[in-house]
Amino acid sequence: MRPETAPVIRLEDYEPAPYRIDRVDLDIQLNPKSVTVMARLAISRNEDTPAGTPLVLDGDELELTGLALDAMPLPDSAYSASHDKLTLNTPPADPFVLEIQTKIDPDANTELMGLYRSNGTYCTQCEAEGFRRITYFLDRPDILSVYTTRIEARKGDAPVLLGNGNPVDGGDVPGTDRHFAVWHDPHPKPSYLFAMVAGDLAHVDDTFTTASGKKVELKIYVEHGRQDRCAWAMDSLKRSMKWDEEVFGCEYDLDVFNIVAVSDFNMGAMENKGLNIFNDKYVLADAETATDQDYANIEAVIAHEYFHNWTGNRITCRDWFQLCLKEGLTVFRDQEFSSDMRSRAVKRISDVRLLKSHQFPEDAGPLAHPVRPRKYTEINNFYTATVYEKGAEVVRMLKTLLGDEGFKKGMDLYLERHDGEATTIEAFLVCFSEATATDLGQFARWYEQAGTPQVDVKSHYDKAAGELTLDISQSILPLPGQATSESAVIPLRFGLIGPNGEEMTPATRSGARFQDDVLVLEEQSQKVTFTGLHSRPVLSLLRGFSAPVRLEAHQSAEDLLFLARQDNDPFNRWQALQTLATHDLMRLTRAARQNEELAPNPDLVAAFGEVLLNEALDPAFRALTLQLPGEADLARDIGHDVDPDAIAAARCALRKAIGAAHCNAFKIALAAKPGGPFSPDAQSAGKRALANQALGYYAASGTQDAAEIVAAAFEEAGNMTDRIATLSLLVHEGLAGGEQALEAFRRRHEATALAMDKWFMVQATAPLSDGLERVKALTAHPLFDFANPNRVRSLVHAFATGNPTQFARKDGAGFEFVADNALAIDQRNPQVASRLLTCFRSWRALEKSRSNLAEAALQRIASAEKLSRDSRDIVDRCLQ
Ligand code: BES
Ligand code: ZN
Repeated sequence: MRPETAPVIRLEDYEPAPYRIDRVDLDIQLNPKSVTVMARLAISRNEDTPAGTPLVLDGDELELTGLALDAMPLPDSAYSASHDKLTLNTPPADPFVLEIQTKIDPDANTELMGLYRSNGTYCTQCEAEGFRRITYFLDRPDILSVYTTRIEARKGDAPVLLGNGNPVDGGDVPGTDRHFAVWHDPHPKPSYLFAMVAGDLAHVDDTFTTASGKKVELKIYVEHGRQDRCAWAMDSLKRSMKWDEEVFGCEYDLDVFNIVAVSDFNMGAMENKGLNIFNDKYVLADAETATDQDYANIEAVIAHEYFHNWTGNRITCRDWFQLCLKEGLTVFRDQEFSSDMRSRAVKRISDVRLLKSHQFPEDAGPLAHPVRPRKYTEINNFYTATVYEKGAEVVRMLKTLLGDEGFKKGMDLYLERHDGEATTIEAFLVCFSEATATDLGQFARWYEQAGTPQVDVKSHYDKAAGELTLDISQSILPLPGQATSESAVIPLRFGLIGPNGEEMTPATRSGARFQDDVLVLEEQSQKVTFTGLHSRPVLSLLRGFSAPVRLEAHQSAEDLLFLARQDNDPFNRWQALQTLATHDLMRLTRAARQNEELAPNPDLVAAFGEVLLNEALDPAFRALTLQLPGEADLARDIGHDVDPDAIAAARCALRKAIGAAHCNAFKIALAAKPGGPFSPDAQSAGKRALANQALGYYAASGTQDAAEIVAAAFEEAGNMTDRIATLSLLVHEGLAGGEQALEAFRRRHEATALAMDKWFMVQATAPLSDGLERVKALTAHPLFDFANPNRVRSLVHAFATGNPTQFARKDGAGFEFVADNALAIDQRNPQVASRLLTCFRSWRALEKSRSNLAEAALQRIASAEKLSRDSRDIVDRCLQ
């Protein structure tokens, strides 16, 4: 366990390290229960470092078993060693070689950081600070070294031995049952990109020829028997490699690219140089076990990790405060890739939904922080929606403001100028500023200020003058540690829509800077005027969600309905109906709290029917548009005194009204599934999504034969998408046949962990009055496993984040259950525990009796005798 009171690390305190480590030669001897690591580090003193300055290397739970300097053993007086630090008191003035031997036990590594075992396979996870659990090192991203790794193991235990870079040697160790492999990575890299894997794995092979004609061997390694679930991942990898050449001019730079899929992994996947390691849920897929969403996720995650080869690996971060430099930019790149592979509109809507449901609440609560944080106590807690998703939005705004060409020039300059470096956000922005002769001083505030800007727009049309005026203002609500805010540069893409849906062009526009169809907001408040408009235009603002802001445009229901039908911008078409639905759901929520009758707005109900029947629209778009705002979205928009039961009741009432009003249309639509064998392409997936939405509304309508129809659809399901959609409906709507379906699913998929994760998740998120009791019982199920992060996420985490009424139960039992589990998990895996604890971040917004109970649960965790730094940080900030 780490120390309980952790120091605060601050961006302003950054200093380069006093020493460099130019070369790292590792010799890793693998034996069950005991691994010996010999690290030979070629170290040199930096010019500004006074000779004799102590060298302090990081460690974590390490046991030092040998130490030599330039091949001579070191006397005890020359150094001091503890499990988390190795200090050389007076290192030589000239370059020297330090040989460090450590002993570690990967079988006992339950944190899944450093070297650990997953189903017997040895694997590593070093980002952010895991390398120090393998050997003592300057474990920080600005120390770039060339690595050579020799791995040795018993042939029978680990026939496959993998490292970073290219394979350069290998063979048997004469006279033993052991063998070895040597890997060399010529590209200097930070320690967090180190990886090795050893085990008995199968592989699927392919090749890719780069634009300059270099042939790259591609391999995906999986446990035996899983090879036939790798085709989609391999296809996604080849498309990613091609796309990055075409769109960003980035070519791959080694002879091999290996991906290993493991079952026990804290995160989604990791971009280790030449040896990506993946949570197997982002690799394995076939129609029987993976949903359309899984296929889309695999495509995106494979692309994301591959794209890091340039944005992250060749150009890395100077320090962890710069995390968004690689993550925000790489998320932007994977979003663009998926947009090019699929429907751009649907991808944009999905991404914005994710941003609003995950990042907005983070940015409005106690865990809010800038895209580039200024301080942290535990860096693992800063791999957040703000760094990732808002970080990607900031890059997207840069593109909107500079135009496609300007953005390309800036990217090209960045990739060329900083190749091989560990750099900063400032340096990144300078490239765009220089390449386009643009001042980005004010834009940089997007990296510095926490909180979601609120943009308020009041419009006034003067018919006689033919003038439209907009009073626009921006503000950020005060946050802990950030009382005031400065105005940001906000690109608002917009259109003025005439009575027949045509785009109107004003004679003049003034009061702001305009770039084509983008109004650039720069001041706290601005008055914008359009002239020459002879009929009142309907304003379509923030098209494509051109900035990560909350927009309050004070539009009438009539105008919103008009936009939902007529806007040329598909995002705003979707948004208009969401806004209308949100307004009505907020009204219904208030009514539910007063125990009044819940009568949804008939115009809104009718508008949903129109979407369903509009064959001119892409099925995937229709499916997304039919989805009501989620309960968490509504809670966020309500903002205070939140009663999850009232929200759920409101949502149920609207779903039921829509289902009942268009019952026949839904019945027709639910049958419109794509024929033929399963194909994961976006078109087919869209059709399945629409049919399953239709089935959901039909079930919600309460029509007599609903249970029968859903149960039949479950029986007939020919793929996991349809099977899990129908199972969820049966269980969540409490329909007859739910229990039998759960049992049938379990029998069918018992041997497939990723499918059983879904089985746990469906039950964890069931909004039933005894939902918590069911989840508690499932923690004792023979297939539940506290050691497997995916399983914990699909039961406990899914409950805490996807079952708002049961988590926030009035008796406090939901909070207590999550607190108990977080405490238990924290003992073995702090990262999984602290992520789970972020589910408490919006506790203050709950109505008083619930928020008191949530606070008590948090206090209980805070007072636990033994709590990891990770969990302590989250709980302290939540209570702050
Ligand atoms: N570099 C991260 C993996 C990581 C995350 C390491 C946190 C250490 C701590 C990787 O590139 C990543 O971002 N993975 C994401 C998925 C991605 C598609 C956004 C993840 O693991 O969730
Ligand atoms: Zn990443």
